[in-house]
Order: sequence, then structure tokens, then C-alpha cells
Amino acid sequence: MCGIVGYVGPRPSTEVLLGGLKRLEYRGYDSAGVAVIGEDGTLASAKKAGRLQALVDLLEASPIADGPTGIGHTRWATHGGPNDANAHPHFGDDGRLALIHNGIIENFSELKAELLAEGFEFSSETDTEVAAVLLGREYRATGDLREAFRRTVSRLDGAFTLLAVHEEAPGLVVGARRNSPLVIGLGDGENFLGSDVAAFIDYTKRAVAIGQDQIVAITADTVEVTDFAGAAVEAEPFEVAWDVAAADKGGYSSFMQKEILEQPDAVANTIRGRVHDGAVVVPELEAFGDERLASIRRIIVIACGTAAYAGLVAKYAIERWARIPVEVELSHEFRYREPVLGDDALVVSISQSGETMDTLMAVKYAREQGAQTISVCNTQGATIPRESDAAIYTHAGPEIAVASTKAFVAQITALYLFGLHLARVRGTLDASAQREAIDELLGVPGKLETVLAESAKVEQLAHWMADTRAVLFLGRHVGFPIALEGALKLKELAYIHAEGFAAGELKHGPIALIEPGQPVFVVVPSPRGEHSLHPKVVSNIQEIRARGARVIAIAEAGDAAVLPFADEVLRIPLAGPLFEPLLAVVPLQLFAMHLSSAKGLDVDQPRNLAKSVTVE
Ligand code: F6R
Repeated sequence: MCGIVGYVGPRPSTEVLLGGLKRLEYRGYDSAGVAVIGEDGTLASAKKAGRLQALVDLLEASPIADGPTGIGHTRWATHGGPNDANAHPHFGDDGRLALIHNGIIENFSELKAELLAEGFEFSSETDTEVAAVLLGREYRATGDLREAFRRTVSRLDGAFTLLAVHEEAPGLVVGARRNSPLVIGLGDGENFLGSDVAAFIDYTKRAVAIGQDQIVAITADTVEVTDFAGAAVEAEPFEVAWDVAAADKGGYSSFMQKEILEQPDAVANTIRGRVHDGAVVVPELEAFGDERLASIRRIIVIACGTAAYAGLVAKYAIERWARIPVEVELSHEFRYREPVLGDDALVVSISQSGETMDTLMAVKYAREQGAQTISVCNTQGATIPRESDAAIYTHAGPEIAVASTKAFVAQITALYLFGLHLARVRGTLDASAQREAIDELLGVPGKLETVLAESAKVEQLAHWMADTRAVLFLGRHVGFPIALEGALKLKELAYIHAEGFAAGELKHGPIALIEPGQPVFVVVPSPRGEHSLHPKVVSNIQEIRARGARVIAIAEAGDAAVLPFADEVLRIPLAGPLFEPLLAVVPLQLFAMHLSSAKGLDVDQPRNLAKSVTVE
């Protein structure tokens, strides 16, 4: 969703704001804007529809007076189309204050009606402008920006992060958050605000996450956090675990390419510190308590998009190892179907950003219903882990490309660690089976390197297939969610119609889609092992091949049985059946990325999407 930056300090604000917005552009890229209180105490601003570069060009052509206090915004449109008028900042009626917003103000129509009746006028279609005009009215009534801001946010329903500055309060940025992210960056003689730490990572790694329904006021030397009623709140600083290089493209053609190549590290870093003497011990679960874990009777995994597919993969492993029923459900469906929950249910949420509103609302609902909650998250200080009983962090580093890649493999890794921890606590897996699973997991980073070394073949395939109009993906067992993920990646990156199916479902309908030349990716399980589904998948391949499909098989090295039936074979190293998805997904990620590039599309920022979806 939208990206937000605030700054007070000795540097030229515009530079800090544009740098922060560049790092946050993955959150939304429909329009961008800045407002700065100059040295002379006057408010100057610029905003422009389009990518951030359009604003940069505008500021180059018509610079604004710079100064020590400013706010900046990059937008993903919700209320009102992506045009200059709807871009943030928005202003109070006298033009002396500027305000930016991430989220949705649900009662904006009532508030707008109230303000219109009082004679106020509006120049945009946004819900945000209502908050700006309201703040202007409250400021006139109180003469104090902090107090006016408190009064304003107390009138708002919905989800919001708001930042505001006023000409009469130079050197001060006020901010508030409800169900939407905001983090403080603590500098030396300067302070920052951002939707996430990437906004200020160039300047400081010391951060403070702001809690629900809290207000912050920063000056160059002070940081004050209160609740909406004005009572002081103790805020705990934390150190950002990654450095600025992790948020840079580092010479790669796209963030996505860099992030795909970082997958071996993402998995290794997620395992680090969680395997001791041949057993998995996830330290974050210690506070949750083994007894409490042992008392759980069922697990419900909630997530959206790619994160939900990570949950689907993990379901197979957790059920197998911990012998506990696992359901996986999309957060937005779970939240609104009145699920039956109690304290023997454990709701495990998965979210890279930790801010996805659908998942956040589902977690809150689960807690209200008495369920236990654990969050699997990649972002320190994010809202979902803070709202959960315990959090298991994935250590994938910042994921900037809108399409998720390294977070996906890190999520599966973290969930597997959770499954093995749970199996140990529940005594459902003997020592040798535990060791075998751990060895498999520890072997994944090296095997990922092997898959990545073969990427040239996938790139060539993508170039050959640049004109393809529809692609199907098939898989069984843990290969099924990988088929779903392969299809999602292709849709979002290359705008190609793509569908993933359970291979066994083919004959129940989807096989009607097969016509001569139809490309079908098939995730083929290993032929090794007594219960291998390999023969069944090879039969499925024969069925579609007989109808003219062009088959691209993702198969284990040495699997010769697929050769007679596949037009192309992409190889992955030998791995235990539950660990194949971590490898098989990589050629599909690479395929979508290269096809997107071959079509001349923006790999990192596909149309209509935003990285962190903070509206329901
Ligand atoms: C797809 C993708 C999305 C996210 C989904 C959940 O490539 O990135 O489907 O996985 O929006 O986001 P998080 O994990 O931040 O909750």
C-alpha cells in the first residue's frame, strides 16, 4: 500500500524524503508527493501522478524551498483514481498544514458531509483530504498541532497511518497509526518516521515500532509517543537486523532477480540458531511454552497469496511430523465465516510484511475467539507479530520486489522448523526421523545454489515462450501448491493467464483446456521411495501429451521416466519428498521473471499491485 516518510533534522528534507520514498516505492507507485516546511517557515509541496521518477523530474524542473521538516508519500490508490489531485499530501483549508495517509478512513463520507455543511471545500476525491481539512479545523480551535491531531484521529474509523506538519509548528512532525504500519527511526540530532525501516535505513538502524492507536511527535531531538488520549507510552527501541546493502539492487537487473538469488541465504539464515544437538528448538516458542503447544488439538494456517501457498506446503509436513490436523485458509475467507475456535486451536498466520490487513484482522478475530496465535513474519516490529502470542521470524532480509520469492522459501523453512519443534514437543517423531528431516533442511541452501546455476535454460525457455497466451501448472501433494505459486507468479509478473491444478483433478474438468500446443508445467515428484506419486504424475503427463500439450517437466536429476513424454525438462537436485517444493519453485520464479523481462514489463513493480496490502 502507500509508503510514508517523515523527517526532522539538519539535512535537506527533500533529499531524505525522496531517498526514503525510493526505498518504499514497492508499497505503491501510482503517485507521489512531498511537503516541506522551509527555513523561512513556509510550507512548500509538490505532487505528481505516476512513478516516483515523475515527482523527481517535477522537483528538478520546479524546485521547492527546502528545509528541516518534511513528509513524503508514495500512493497505491484506494479512494479516487491515481491523478495529481488525489496524490498526497493533502492540505487543510487554509493551505498551512499538509497531511499524508496510508489506509482507508471508513467514516470519511459522514465526516465529509459534516465538513461540507460547515462550508469547507474539497479538491480531491480522497478520504485523506477529509482528515486534512478536519485537522485544519481542529488546529484553528486549539492552536496546538499535537492536540489538534489527537482530536482528529479520535474521530476517524478504519485503518490509517497519518503524518502531518504545520507552518506554525516548524521542526515538528506528528504521526498516528491504527491497523497500519509506522516506525520511528532514531538518529543523532535528527529523527525519522517511515512505513517501514527501509525508509530511513540509509541514516540509522535504531528503530521503534509504534503500537496500535498511538500517536508520535518527533522533533530533531525528541520523540514522544502517547495513546490517542494523550497518555505517555513506553516504546522499546530495536536494532534493525539488516544493513543498507540488503535494501539495494546491488548491480542486479531487478530486486526480484537479486531476491531469487538470495534464496540459499534466506533459508540458511532462517534455520540459523534453531537447530541444537540434532533437534529443532525455536527459541521464540519458549515463551509460548511447550505445555501450551502440546495442548493444541488443531492448527489453522491463515495467509494470503504466496504466503498461503507456503502454508499449503507446510500442511503436509506438519501433519506428517506432528500428527496434528492442519487447515489452511485465506485470511479474508477465514475471518468472515464464523470459524469454530477455542483455546485448543492454534492459528498460525504467515505474512512477509506483517501488515497485510486481511491477515491482521483474521489474527485479531482468532484472539477474540480465544484461539492461540503464532505469527510467521519477515518484518521486525510489524503489526501482525505484535498482535500474536508468539512470532517466528523468517530471516530472508528485506523483500523489495512486489512479487514474493525469497520470503516464500523462508516461510516454508520457518514452518518446517515449527513442525519439527512441535513434533519434538508432542513426541510424534523418533530421533532418527527428526535427524533425517533436519539434514534434509540443512541441505536445502546448497541444493538451491545448484538449481540457480541452471537458470540460463529457464531464461531461454521464457524467451521462446514470450508470445504465450495461457499456461497451465500441475502438481500433486506438495507439488500442488507449487503449481499454484507458479501460476500466480506468471499472472502477476507477465500478465499471462495461468492456472495451477492438482494433477489428480485434471480429469475432473481442467483437461478440457488442453489443446495442441498448450504449454503445461508439471512438477514431478521423485520416483524414489515406496509411496512415490511419480507413476501417477507420469500418467497425468501422458494424458495431456496425448491431447497435444507441450509439457515442461520439473523433475529430479536422473529421472529418466519423464523424458519420453516431456518437451523440456528442468532439473532439480535429489531431495526428500517434503523438501522438493523448496527447489521446484525456483525454475517457476525464474520463468515468470524472465518472461516479464522478455515482454518488456516492470519485473519489480507489476501493474495494479502493491507489496504490502494494508486495506481489506
Ligand atoms: C505474490 C505476493 C502476494 C503476497 C500476499 C501476502 O507474489 O507477494 O500474494 O504473498 O499479498 O503478503 P504478506 O506475506 O506480506 O502478508
